[in-house]
Amino acid sequence: MSKTYKIAVLPGDGTGPEVVAEGLKVLKVVAAKHDLKFEYTPYDLGGERYLRTGELVPDSVLAELAKADAIYLGAIGHPDVKPGPLENGILLKIRFHFDQYINLRPVKLYPNVETPLKDKGPEHINFDIIRENCGGIYTGIGGVAHKGKPLELATQVMTYSRPEVDRCLRYAFKRALLREKKKLTLVHKMNVLTVTGDLWFRAFHEMGEKEFPQVERDYAHVDATTMWMVKNPEWFETMVTENLFGDIITDLGAMIQGGMGIAAGGNINPEGLSMFEPIGGSAPKYTGTKKINPLAAINAAGMMLAHLGEAKAADAIENAVVKGLTSGKIKSMAAGRMGLNTEEMGDFIASLI
Ligand code: IPM
Ligand code: MN
Repeated sequence: MSKTYKIAVLPGDGTGPEVVAEGLKVLKVVAAKHDLKFEYTPYDLGGERYLRTGELVPDSVLAELAKADAIYLGAIGHPDVKPGPLENGILLKIRFHFDQYINLRPVKLYPNVETPLKDKGPEHINFDIIRENCGGIYTGIGGVAHKGKPLELATQVMTYSRPEVDRCLRYAFKRALLREKKKLTLVHKMNVLTVTGDLWFRAFHEMGEKEFPQVERDYAHVDATTMWMVKNPEWFETMVTENLFGDIITDLGAMIQGGMGIAAGGNINPEGLSMFEPIGGSAPKYTGTKKINPLAAINAAGMMLAHLGEAKAADAIENAVVKGLTSGKIKSMAAGRMGLNTEEMGDFIASLI
């Protein structure tokens, strides 16, 4: 008897529900072929619920999520809610509550997907970014004095403890070992952030030397990293960085791999509950138009399977996506220009499993 995976589904706002529906469609076919069982429990977290009830993530929902094997997320973000409450009250709340301290973002250019980088192809753009996902400036330590007055003073502090840094680095080194070329690049800004940067730098080299001597170590400043990701993306294999820098460079990564239509990510607690999502956001203007690209959500479903230990089923999804992209039937990653609508794209990928 195969195990039944309990998946908490958070379709969220805007186009989130539409792309999640296509991901679930593909998972259904994969489950049948690979003898897997999924039990889905949907939760209506998001801007709609917040506007209706004022609730973000009630404690009762957190307690229920804790029983799941994984969370599958669409997108959170509502045009009628100002920036802040949904991001902090839902997304960051779940990340922090379940200590999802890794944000894993594969940056991979698939065949026939257009990159804005001239002269670069799938052989150049294929690396993993590991972003520390719970600490740093996102911890929220700081405060404001004299608010609204001429001498207003505000701080938000980049904090890191050695254990926080070490656990993230350990995940990154292990991830680096999975690739053919075992090279890990630490991205930071240690020429200016001489305190937290130095902590990351020392921890990186100490761990590498002691525990992962097979992994080549490299270091790049984050500003230079943005240049190289554009000019020489083939230099990167596995990258590891702190939270805010990771937030920024993973968006750049998404763009060079073909855009938000195809980029997926995982909020991972290697020892606990993880959450997988298309990283594109809720794209409210496309809601209900069937124009949004579900490939990112489908890829997120694949990452979820890989994380659950179902490598073959995960590969089946990736292979179907690659087959779909090489078929010539998919014209673009951009919403409305795919040559297929959202549902047709889901049907097409499902048919290739
Ligand atoms: C992301 C998003 C979030 C982040 C926001 C919505 C809080 O940009 O997942 O990258 O900054 O981490
Ligand atoms: Mn981001």
